[in-house]
Amino acid sequence: MTNGEILSNEPLKSGYFLIRFHAPEVCRTARAGQFVHVRIAGLQTYILRRPFSIHSTDGDALTIVYKVVGHGTEHLSRLAPGAVCDLMGPLGRPYTPPADDETPVLVGGGYGSAALYLLTRAAKRRGVLLLGARSEADVILDDRYRDAGFEVRLATNDGSVGIKGLVTDLIAPLLAERAGEKLRFYGCGPRPMLLALARMLNERGLPGEISLDHLMCCGVGACFACVVKVRSEAAPGWEYRRTCKDGPVFDARDVWLDD
Ligand SMILES: Cc1cc2nc3c(=O)[nH]c(=O)nc-3n(C[C@H](O)[C@H](O)[C@H](O)COP(=O)(O)OP(=O)(O)OC[C@H]3O[C@@H](n4cnc5c(N)ncnc54)[C@H](O)[C@@H]3O)c2cc1C
Ligand code: FES
Repeated sequence: MTNGEILSNEPLKSGYFLIRFHAPEVCRTARAGQFVHVRIAGLQTYILRRPFSIHSTDGDALTIVYKVVGHGTEHLSRLAPGAVCDLMGPLGRPYTPPADDETPVLVGGGYGSAALYLLTRAAKRRGVLLLGARSEADVILDDRYRDAGFEVRLATNDGSVGIKGLVTDLIAPLLAERAGEKLRFYGCGPRPMLLALARMLNERGLPGEISLDHLMCCGVGACFACVVKVRSEAAPGWEYRRTCKDGPVFDARDVWLDD
């Protein structure tokens, strides 16, 4: 556990905020796909920590991008620079960085574009971000990927930017264009999107990893509040794994698709 003094806490758009903490210990070992478990300063009535993916590190500054969805995140959005939160992390199993000859294809929805960003640093080859959102107003951080040399392709439900459709609709055309290239997929976003992505990858025998987020309690593997079903060799073909400790990142082949 470490104290994280807030350096800045600014609205981005559509209820998303970008917060920076002074957190040298977290920054030192943070890897793409990991998260920090945050005890939000001054949150008296709801004592549970809240998990947030590590978006980026810059020296000793740790950046998280969060959406205001409830009591905790609403309280967090009102904290000013100088307030100190207790941070646990980096926690969880990170993404496996792509091999030098692999092109990373990042597939995100919701806060997924925040959680996938550190892969732009871990990858040698410049890759592609496929980003899905309800409409243009919900598209966040796409410019950061362009600045990192990634190509960005968008899909929105209302067609206000990119193609009209789902982010997974972007995959077949990409595969056709990049035939012969070694692609490795990384997903983070809403559960239905991730299950659809895992199904596509498994059907085509493509390598990839998926971040399965879940409501969490302890965050360190002790309480089993965060279990998900994953495939297993043993009967009945699946077992429970903790998303905080065994995940949140899982191989797409291990994702349980049959419920
Ligand atoms: C590993 C991990 C990484 C995460 N990374 C991010 C991130 O980078 N940015 C971000 O904005 N959010 C992230 N989340 C989700 C974030 O933890 C929740 O949005 C937050 O805890 C909500 O707290 P609250 O007190 O505001 O909401 P609450 O009052 O607790 O809940 C309000 C609403 O949010 C829903 N909710 C709560 N927790 C989750 C969750 N884990 N997943 C989906 N819905 C949830 C509740 O079901 C409820 O509908 C992550 C979650 C996990 C498990
Ligand atoms: S949150 Fe306690 S085991 Fe995962």
